[in-house]
Amino acid sequence: MTVLGILDRVADVAAFDKFIEPARRAVQGALGAPAVKDFLHGTWLGHPLHPVLVHVPVGSWVSAGLLDLIPPLRPAATVLIGAGVAGAVPAALAGAADWSEAEVGVRRLGALHAAANTAALGLYVGSLVARSRGRGALGRVLSYAGLGVAGGSAAIGGHMSYAQSAGVSHSATSARALTTEWIDLGPLDDLPEGRPALRTGKGRSLAVPLAAVRRGARVDVFVAACSHLSGPLDEGTIADVRGEQCLVCPLHGSAFDLETGQPRRGPSANSQEKLEVRMEAGRVMARLAARHR
Ligand code: FES
Repeated sequence: MTVLGILDRVADVAAFDKFIEPARRAVQGALGAPAVKDFLHGTWLGHPLHPVLVHVPVGSWVSAGLLDLIPPLRPAATVLIGAGVAGAVPAALAGAADWSEAEVGVRRLGALHAAANTAALGLYVGSLVARSRGRGALGRVLSYAGLGVAGGSAAIGGHMSYAQSAGVSHSATSARALTTEWIDLGPLDDLPEGRPALRTGKGRSLAVPLAAVRRGARVDVFVAACSHLSGPLDEGTIADVRGEQCLVCPLHGSAFDLETGQPRRGPSANSQEKLEVRMEAGRVMARLAARHR
């Protein structure tokens, strides 16, 4: 088994949930207003905010480690460690918001990721205290230890994204299985007005569920698997969210602009995959977006 393969075993341990679930509820309560959560998810950005923010502590701490190797530059290293400590706080808040809405295996590894990050942060704060008291050697030992722990934690975070699909668009994965040809979704008149209907898109191997929304003569067609965690958007609802008509996921309430597919409300930070649509003799035809063909 590979080292990172061990993390998959950790993600299978259901016994962790009795500690994780109360923490998750506490995080959800502490983050408060939906607008705050959406800001931290990165819904406004169209991309998860957490990986953007972690550049500050990671970049600062790696740079500080290099500067500490050169004695005249050690005061600059201390400044960078302070910048990393300050930058770790918003990065942690964004990560906590995503973690509280993640699927169960990701939550288990995320708890380990958070514990390691907290340990790294504590080591860096200890390093700053030691440096401020003139104990530079101890300060450097603590900061290099912090760098090691933060590096291990970054590997866990990477595993959560690349092996467990945390933060990625699940609708993009589903879209890639579609054929590149125009798909006949049947007569326009068969679609109900103002609510999503399940249609099936021909896939390269398996059929792909689609959610078609008719509003008068207009039809918007989306991949049915929600970009957050593959919730069934064909079972969702249409609602006005922040001034835009949106398709709302029945699982966790992410709302996607019917015109653009962009998220108007989280937890999803990724757009929902939308198909090109044309009418042909009263029938609805849909095709995969050009970026996937
Ligand atoms: S699956 Fe979570 S919001 Fe759709």
